[in-house]
Amino acid sequence: MAVVISSSGNSQAFEAKMTVYVFICVIIAAVGGLIFGYDIGISGGVTAMDDFLEEFFPAVYERKKHAHENNYCKYDNQFLQLFTSSLYLAALVASFFASATCSKLGRKPTMQFASIFFLIGVGLAAGAVNMFMLIIGRILLGFGVGFGNQAVPLFLSEIAPARLRGGLNIVFQLMVTIGILIANIVNYFTSSIHPYGWRLALGGAGIPALILLFGSLLICETPTSLIERNKTEEGKETLKKIRGVEDVDEEFDSIVYACDFARQVKNPYRKLMKPESRPPFVIGMLLQLFQQFTGINAIMFYAPVLFQTVGFGSDAALLSAVITGTINVLSTFVGIFLVDKTGRRFLLLQSSVHMLVCQLVIGIILAKDLGVTGTLGRPQSLVVVIFVCLYVMGFAWSWGPLGWLIPSETFPVETRTEGFALAVSCNMFFTFVIAQAFLSMLCGMKSGIFFFFSAWIVVMGLFALFFVPETKGISIDDMRDSVWKPHWYWKRFMLQEDDHDVEKRTA
Ligand code: BGC
Repeated sequence: MAVVISSSGNSQAFEAKMTVYVFICVIIAAVGGLIFGYDIGISGGVTAMDDFLEEFFPAVYERKKHAHENNYCKYDNQFLQLFTSSLYLAALVASFFASATCSKLGRKPTMQFASIFFLIGVGLAAGAVNMFMLIIGRILLGFGVGFGNQAVPLFLSEIAPARLRGGLNIVFQLMVTIGILIANIVNYFTSSIHPYGWRLALGGAGIPALILLFGSLLICETPTSLIERNKTEEGKETLKKIRGVEDVDEEFDSIVYACDFARQVKNPYRKLMKPESRPPFVIGMLLQLFQQFTGINAIMFYAPVLFQTVGFGSDAALLSAVITGTINVLSTFVGIFLVDKTGRRFLLLQSSVHMLVCQLVIGIILAKDLGVTGTLGRPQSLVVVIFVCLYVMGFAWSWGPLGWLIPSETFPVETRTEGFALAVSCNMFFTFVIAQAFLSMLCGMKSGIFFFFSAWIVVMGLFALFFVPETKGISIDDMRDSVWKPHWYWKRFMLQEDDHDVEKRTA
């Protein structure tokens, strides 16, 4: 594979080939996303398996047997939710450590730490004989997610030739969706293996964790990370290897310049608090809140539970989750294809309207036709499944991938790892909130939960309309001049030219 591309930003044009080596590196690194997705998808299935409930959550199991008593509350149990959500809390904490190892040791060792955490976590969770082992296993898996989600998107962005950065970044999200789908399929088959199907389901994450561990021995460190840590010559050699050309001087000089400047910034977290950092900071953090408050994980974690709630049997519910999982994967390709053509804003706005309609339809059907007891009629159940699928489709080409892409492309180099770490931990925090609260919210708000998410979708659509500028095709280091300065709102936080130079010298 030797497509010569000119990775031109507004002011730069570096020669680069899309080499086979880069391709292999991208695939191996993105396996980190696969494990993240697998963990997201597996929880809902496992928590719907009777053998699992009987062993660890007997009270929930008893209540489930009398499901006809209350449709919306049969799974509401704080410990059951803790099983799902402990992983995200651990990932939140871990992403700060991961940011430090990313800067001090490099992206590659950070990925290797992730795979080791994953392997130990999988062993404990799949082999659990008590609640303690189960939760510690989940926490270690969470450490893996924190380390992986910090290192992988950064690794992908730094190793990719600039013009392929958007698409290659979304390979991470693609792998997340493939992980969720594999988990749904595994859930489907293991749910009929008694009594240890759930152990197989949880243990399945060991396979991609091994691939990441051994695969990461083959991949290189990124040139930026090497140069940042004063391994300048090695950085240049690596750059030649990944770009597939001998003359990399221009790109090399620009990385050296960016790293020199980044070194002058002694406290990146303080720099992040300065007004000039406000646009990427506010957008990066709010996108995480919004991504999670679309309600996507209410569907992803709990799809089987949700489908059972509307009256599907256990098997049919898991099968429906396989269908939503497939749609999630296929629609992500639409995102990869469109993101650099129609731009980010179009996708965010289109999908806000699209997802709003879906949530409203689902909410109205449940409010009208699903009482607190009883089941939905067949036609209504079908309509719910169809609108859940349409909703997942809209998310998959917009708020899903863009929640990861935009923070990775809008922070300037001197605050990039720290800003991104904050974005990852914010994402984990809101994922935790949804995972922990959803079943109780479903129980308390009933079908109203869908109107709750609808209201959030309106807010995020308006935010995207007024506050998220287009970043398509703009060089990653040119955001200040081309994006923030001309923007009607964000321009007030931009320093004047002279101030900026002083700022550069003193930060
Ligand atoms: C989100 C996850 C979500 C997944 C669904 C990701 O971008 O961060 O929370 O479960 O998309 O595909």
